[in-house]
Amino acid sequence: MITEEIPLAKPVLGEAEEAAVLEVLRSGQLSLGPRVPAFEAAFAARIGARHASAVSSGTAGLHLALRAVGVSDGDEVITSPFSFVASANVVLYERARPVFADICPRSLNLDPQAVAAAITDRTTVVLPVHIFGYPADVPALEAHGLPIVEDACEALGAVHGDGVAVGGRGHPAAFGFYANKQLTTGEGGMLTLGSDAHKETIDSERNQGRAPDMGWLDHDRLGFNYRLSDIACALGLAQLERLDDMLAGRARAAASYRQALAPLVSERGLELPCEDAGGDRRGWFVFVVQLPHGVDRDGTIRALRELGVHSKPYLPAIHLMSFYRERFGHRPGEFPIAEDVAARSIALPFFPELSEGQVARVAEALERVLR
Ligand SMILES: Cc1ncc(COP(=O)(O)O)c(C=O)c1O
Repeated sequence: MITEEIPLAKPVLGEAEEAAVLEVLRSGQLSLGPRVPAFEAAFAARIGARHASAVSSGTAGLHLALRAVGVSDGDEVITSPFSFVASANVVLYERARPVFADICPRSLNLDPQAVAAAITDRTTVVLPVHIFGYPADVPALEAHGLPIVEDACEALGAVHGDGVAVGGRGHPAAFGFYANKQLTTGEGGMLTLGSDAHKETIDSERNQGRAPDMGWLDHDRLGFNYRLSDIACALGLAQLERLDDMLAGRARAAASYRQALAPLVSERGLELPCEDAGGDRRGWFVFVVQLPHGVDRDGTIRALRELGVHSKPYLPAIHLMSFYRERFGHRPGEFPIAEDVAARSIALPFFPELSEGQVARVAEALERVLR
């Protein structure tokens, strides 16, 4: 009998968020108000970035970042096939081509050597993804000398081995605030930036192409509506104040999983998210395990569900999605590491308030199913 359903994710919102949102509602200024620059300044300070620009989603942030560094028709952007589809789609928005390179089996992030092998005279940008909150090897990618745009949508709280926070190296880096993220505004995102010129272009393009000194209906370039509302910024600001607690909650849940799943690792060959190494620190976002080779993943997910444990395949390889296969002719075997990982990965329930008891129930359920 199922005693309790354990969901995959659960946002932690409390009185501080309610009060902050209520204050905006009562102020009457729901958009283009003072919470936007306040949230940007607090976020930039937290990351150690020169600037930050609030946007309507992580995807919108990546799109504006690619435009700011100058991606256009026919350019090639090297990125990871093991990511959420948005990091490749944004390249297509600018009629450029996403060129995939395989991942490192430990970090599941772009392998800098595979990136080097994929560079051509059309490559204009490298777009690493800090997947599952583990820092991509951006310092190694910097050695290639190409502009970098970082997908940090899953990586709030992550830190590189040299002590620089993910998003703080000066390259445009996009964070996402969808409901399952470390910090959420329901939908939303933030770009961290190291360049004054990028800040100016991005702030204009997110607001229909209007320069700061222009009137409401005057626009001097192509733009979008990628703004983040004051309500969303107030929610974000309130959570930023207790981000360390929320991140610590996730790290605690991850440590409990490591302990509870240890027997399945040694006896059944279950693979856990890599441990921090070389000074790199993960900003915990999801807890994704790789099932042993030969285990039926869909059957495992169904069996877990019958025991009240929610899980899902996470993530499918982008190049093997039907749209990418049809458009670019991708076939299995091109990126063997990404494909192997993608075929065996499942996300387990993971949120800051996941209790020891819930972790134990997930571990027991997985043990029963894999036995
Ligand atoms: C790696 C990655 N890239 C991009 C995105 C897109 O972010 P959003 O859903 O805020 O547009 C997400 C999030 O969902 C993500 O996980």
